[in-house]
Amino acid sequence: MKLKRKDLLEMRSLDREEIHLFLDTAESFKEVLTREIKKVPTLRGKTVVNLFYEPSTRTRTSFELAGKRLSADVIHIATQASSVVKGETLLDTARNLEAMGADMIVLRHPAPGAPHLLARTLRSSVINAGDGAHEHPTQGLLDLFTIRERLGRIEGVKAAIVGDILHSRVARSAIAGLTKMGAKVRVSGPPTLLPLEASTLGVQVCPTMEEAVRGVDVIMMLRLQLERQGRGFIPSLREYARFWGLTEGRLRLAKEGVLIMHPGPINRGVEIAPEVADGPYAVILDQVTNGIAVRMAVLYLLSGEGGSSGLEEAA
Ligand code: CP
Repeated sequence: MKLKRKDLLEMRSLDREEIHLFLDTAESFKEVLTREIKKVPTLRGKTVVNLFYEPSTRTRTSFELAGKRLSADVIHIATQASSVVKGETLLDTARNLEAMGADMIVLRHPAPGAPHLLARTLRSSVINAGDGAHEHPTQGLLDLFTIRERLGRIEGVKAAIVGDILHSRVARSAIAGLTKMGAKVRVSGPPTLLPLEASTLGVQVCPTMEEAVRGVDVIMMLRLQLERQGRGFIPSLREYARFWGLTEGRLRLAKEGVLIMHPGPINRGVEIAPEVADGPYAVILDQVTNGIAVRMAVLYLLSGEGGSSGLEEAA
């Protein structure tokens, strides 16, 4: 199956077949990452530009590695050291990158909808690497990939998403992906950090963390996004950790073998206890590893190549 879209902007608008295609393709690419020479010629001659207006460790590095593993030319624009600081607009910056031959632009931006604006204007493919509190579709895909890899299915899986749902693009993409693939999703967090429309998203809203995690297969903890919050959402970090932190005690309420997920970066001792983050149930670093294979699949499928993935050539 060939992907019939130029851009990846949000999980919400993907259908089940497209999600399966991304996950199955990522599975093939994950095998490449175990080889001695972790490289295939699939995107030779293509140019991928990472354009990040917000800090990033995982998304930026894994897009860069994904592009390089596929033999694309990968450029990173650090906006603080670019003409953005001279007042150049997002659209002008992107048009200039396209004029230099960018085939794909990976955009992280604080404004929700910024990637949609570029996608409407450019011929290049645009990939949303996180737009404000809206969506983070490649994080959503790597979360689904990790669940499917570990549990063998997504359909019927019970997942609790806990914490700062209001400011979380990760939660929005995860909820859209999980519900679409047939998982049963619960959300929980301080009432001030739950969006008003939470009950319309096809999820169960739980008033306490204990209720949310009881009997679940997956607990996805969210980072408390202090940089997106004004004052007054929570009384104190200590109070937040007391009611909404994932401790070993709360972990025991979940199903045996529960997967503990977190998109990173983690606030140790706030939303997650260090012994849980480093414990046997955590798959947080597996998520990071899987992010490379998933982003290889995204770059490959959006490139419109649709032919050989290059896997056989390099095997
Ligand atoms: N999960 C995630 O988006 O991490 P970064 O902000 O480091 O990219």
